[in-house]
Amino acid sequence: MAKQEDDFKKVISHAKEYGYVFQSSEIYDGLSAVYDYGQNGAELKKNIREYWWTSMVQLNENIVGIDAAIFMHPTTWKASGHVDAFNDPLIDNKDSKKRYRADVLIEDYVAKIEAKIEKEVEKAAKRFGDSFEKEQFLTTNQRVMEYQEEATRILKRMGKSLANEDLADVKKLIEELEIACPMSGSKNWTDVKQFNLMFGTKLGASAENTTDLYLRPETAQGIFVNFSNVQKSGRMKIPFGIAQTGKAFRNEIVARQFIFRMREFEQMEMQFFIQPGTQKEWYEIWKQKRLKWHLSLGLGTENYRFHDHDKLAHYADAAADIEFRFPFGFKELEGIHSRTDFDLANHEKYSGKKLQYFDPEKNENYVPYVVETSIGLDRMFLAVFSHALQEEELDNGTVRTVLRLPSVLAPTKAAVLPLVKKDGLPELAQEIVEDLKWDFMVTYDEKDAVGRRYRRQDANGTPFCITVDHQSLEDHTVTLRHRDSMQQQRISINDVKGIIHKEVDMKSWLKQMV
Ligand code: GAP
Repeated sequence: MAKQEDDFKKVISHAKEYGYVFQSSEIYDGLSAVYDYGQNGAELKKNIREYWWTSMVQLNENIVGIDAAIFMHPTTWKASGHVDAFNDPLIDNKDSKKRYRADVLIEDYVAKIEAKIEKEVEKAAKRFGDSFEKEQFLTTNQRVMEYQEEATRILKRMGKSLANEDLADVKKLIEELEIACPMSGSKNWTDVKQFNLMFGTKLGASAENTTDLYLRPETAQGIFVNFSNVQKSGRMKIPFGIAQTGKAFRNEIVARQFIFRMREFEQMEMQFFIQPGTQKEWYEIWKQKRLKWHLSLGLGTENYRFHDHDKLAHYADAAADIEFRFPFGFKELEGIHSRTDFDLANHEKYSGKKLQYFDPEKNENYVPYVVETSIGLDRMFLAVFSHALQEEELDNGTVRTVLRLPSVLAPTKAAVLPLVKKDGLPELAQEIVEDLKWDFMVTYDEKDAVGRRYRRQDANGTPFCITVDHQSLEDHTVTLRHRDSMQQQRISINDVKGIIHKEVDMKSWLKQMV
């Protein structure tokens, strides 16, 4: 646990030191769970967004993208169920006066049981070596099976109590499990209460004429209310999808873990409109498609897993998370939700407008069903960034800090470094920058010894360094240094662009999804 916390602290401080993420309004001591992206963070975020958008919109003929407003008519949130049901169960500790999400306290308890299972697996893998069969071990080892049963039993009970709004039982469960306040160790809890997560705001100039609005807690509703506009103007045929990226706001009770849980964050969502009755099939298809997208970035198959929901959101008939192994354990990265016709049918009811589709094949009108894919851009950022940050012991005994970002996402693709600041080397290096900048984000760096500059670019996540030396003036060659292998190649300046292109080209990365 201490190592995990230590690793995570390193992630946060590295993100700040290298211009990726800053606390919002830091000079005023910050604003809890609100963050700003710096010069490198903004680029990384943009690249992740583009990687998602290209895979969803550009590569799917039947998916189009929109950009709906953050402000929406207040009835939207009544129809969507958010006014009545977008609540978190909260509980206060009477001694520490700290407030927690009751479900998170229980889930953290279960995560500790899961950590015990992982430990048993690791121990057994060491003991049995190559002959170790994980699946068999999980299903036959008595202790592991007991842990598993306990975890399942707790989550089932919590899911049932929350679904039935039985908050007294949620409290009882916390007491039975003897869960203590992580701050004070006290088990002196209040009752569990529901707390709505939407932020309210006002529209209008004078006090008498204002309308109460909400800041959208999900981007999805901007898609639902535009269903007919897009379907008709784009002559879309079912099955088809509408995608968008944009800000969402939630007054999170437990806002912690850096950019994992924020009060203002960005979502990348896609609603896929389908024939009623086909939702199971499409739900499975989108689960697999989205997993492939993640895997295409090469962060390691072992770092992802599906988690099927016991506790379903108010709109879903099936839901699963793609979980990622963050520095603090496996947690939700993306949700795949079968939303039935809940949203469109409710918007029909509340707006009085028809939100139906005439299916020429079936020769009938119906309200389409929806399968949604929903991923937090900031959370994806954290997954990529935290996985990339590594400390490596080198052959000479020194340690290098390297940010092994997938090169397709790296903010800066190459740094051009004149070996010395004289003899015409800076001028040639600048010429190379001038040429490359039309294709990639590149930077010029002439300060400090070249070894230190390499380390700086490693820590910054830059996949390539191009070093210009005296030989470059004679034969028009440079040294190309690769961030991950640290290997250096002597190549013609004319070949630089092609080599970088091959490595960072989005097409070749995305093709791994197919
Ligand atoms: N439209 C469905 C929806 O919003 P969700 O599971 O509440 O579903 C989807 O959110 C994704 O948005 C999550 O998987 C997560 O990546 C991201 N997300 C949700 N709340 C967040 C928060 N407070 N901070 C950062 N990301 C968040």
